[in-house]
Amino acid sequence: MTAKPDHVFDRDREWAGLTSFTQNPHPGAMLGVVSGRRRQGKSLLMEALTSATGGLYFPALEQTEAITLRSFTASLIRQGIAVSQPLRSWEDAISLLFSATGDHPRAIVIDEFPFLVKASPSLPSIIQRELGPGGSGAGSRARLILCGSAMTVMGQLLAGQAPLRGRASLELLVRPFGYREAAAFWGVSDPQLAVLLHAIAGGTPAYRREFVAFDTPADLADFDAWVLRTVLNPQRPLFREARYLLAEEPDIRDPALYHSVLAAIASGNSTNGSIASYVGRKSAEITHPLTVLEDSALIARQPDMFRAGRAVYRTTEPLITFYEAIMQPDWYRLESGQADAVWRDQRPTFFSRVVGPHFEDICRRFAENAAPGVFGGIPGEVGQGVVNDAANRSQIEIDVAVRGPREPGRPPRLLSLGEAKWGEAMGTRHLARLARARDLLSDRFDTSDCVLACYSGKGFDHDVLAAHDSRVALIGLADLYRP
Ligand SMILES: Nc1ncnc2c1ncn2[C@@H]1O[C@H](COP(=O)(O)OP(=O)(O)O)[C@@H](O)[C@H]1O
Ligand SMILES: [Mg+2]
Repeated sequence: MTAKPDHVFDRDREWAGLTSFTQNPHPGAMLGVVSGRRRQGKSLLMEALTSATGGLYFPALEQTEAITLRSFTASLIRQGIAVSQPLRSWEDAISLLFSATGDHPRAIVIDEFPFLVKASPSLPSIIQRELGPGGSGAGSRARLILCGSAMTVMGQLLAGQAPLRGRASLELLVRPFGYREAAAFWGVSDPQLAVLLHAIAGGTPAYRREFVAFDTPADLADFDAWVLRTVLNPQRPLFREARYLLAEEPDIRDPALYHSVLAAIASGNSTNGSIASYVGRKSAEITHPLTVLEDSALIARQPDMFRAGRAVYRTTEPLITFYEAIMQPDWYRLESGQADAVWRDQRPTFFSRVVGPHFEDICRRFAENAAPGVFGGIPGEVGQGVVNDAANRSQIEIDVAVRGPREPGRPPRLLSLGEAKWGEAMGTRHLARLARARDLLSDRFDTSDCVLACYSGKGFDHDVLAAHDSRVALIGLADLYRP
C-alpha cells in the first residue's frame, strides 16, 4: 500500500480505503464517491492520493459547460494525456479519460463535482452509461472518484432513482476529526482546555489553520483571550463561518428559518414539537428543514434508547451551537467590536448551553469506542434516553446509555448507564439515580452486568473514589483523552 504523506494528519482509515480502491487490479473502470462538508480535508486527501499514486486531479469551478470542458482539456494536456482535439462533450471527455489510463489502475479525481452537475445535469447519466455494458469503461482500469462538498447534492447522487445508484464501489464520508484527534491536531494536551476548544472549533481541520491564522490557546489561562482573539473577532474568518455554513448548502433556500431551527436546538429544544413551538411554526412546517439540516450533516437525530418513537435533535457542528447560543443574540455588539463585554455576559451561557451538552456528546463518543474492559463488553449502540419513574412521578435522563450487540432470542444487554457533568464533582447521589434507572429497566433489558458510569469534568467525591465496585466506573477527563 502507498504510504500516506506526512503532511496529512490522521485519516489513516480514509487513506487505506482510498488506496485500496485506487489500486484495485480488477479490469473495468470503477467509481468512487467521496463526500463531506467543506473544509474537512477532502481536497487535501485527493491531492495527496493523486500525487502519491500518479493519478489525475481535476478541481471543478462554478462555470458553464463550455468553459469547463476547455479547462478540462487543458488540464488533461498538462497532466500528460494526449488530446487530439478539444473536447466538445462530456461523453468525449469521460471516454477519453477511461481510455487514457492504460493497463494499470489509476485514480482520476473530479473535485467539486456538484459544480459540474449544476452546469451539466446529464453528467451522472453519461458516467453511468460509460461505466455500464458496452461503455468505454469496460477495457479501462480507471478509478474515477467524484468528490464534493454540497452534502445534499452528493447524497442525491447515490440515492433512489439516481443513475449512479449502485455503481460506486467506494463511498467515503470525510468527517471532522474526533475529539481526541482534534486535540492532537491543535497540539493541546490539557484535557480541560481540549474540551473547551472542541466545544467551539470542533474537529474541522481548516478552523485550526486559515480560519484563525494558526492561533492556538497557549494554555487554559489563555482560553478567554483566545476566544476574544479568534471566534469573537470580526477580523477572523471563524467569526462569520457559522453563517456561511448554511449559505453553502444549495438546498437551504430560507436561511432565516434554518437559523431559527438551529437556534431552537442550541437553546435546549431538542424534540420536533419543542423546536416548532420555539420557532413559532407548526411541527409539519419544520419537518423539511430538519431533514435538510440532517442531510447536510449539521444536525443529527438521536433516537431515545428507552422510549420507542422518540428522538432528540442535536447540532453536530459545535461552531453552530456556539454561534446560535452566544454570538447571534449579541451580533450587533460583536460586530461593533464589543467582544469583551459580550463574552463577560455570555460566559455562564457558554458553560450551560454549549459546554455542558457538548461534554455529554464527547462522553458518548468515548463510550462508542471504549475498550471492552470499560463496560465488560463491546458496545453495540450508544445513545441517550429517558427512563420513566412512575412511582416517583419523575423521569431520569440518561446521558450515556450503552447497549451490547443484539443477540437473537435474548433480551438486549445493557452494558452501562451513565451521567455526564462538566462542572460538578460527582458522587453517590448520581450513582443512586443511575441505580434506580437500572432497576426500572431490568424488565426490558438484561441489566445483570450493567456498569453505572459517572463522567465528570470536575472530579469525584471522596466516598465514591474510596469504594471499589466493578459495576461502577468513574471516568474523568484524563480517561476521556487517554489514547
Ligand atoms: N488531515 C489533515 N491534515 C492536515 N491538514 C488538513 C487535513 N485536512 C484538512 N487540512 C487542512 O484544512 C484545510 C481545508 O482542507 P480542504 O482539503 O480544502 O477541505 P475540503 O476540500 O474538504 O473543503 C486546508 O488548509 C487543509 O490543509
Ligand atoms: Mg475541497
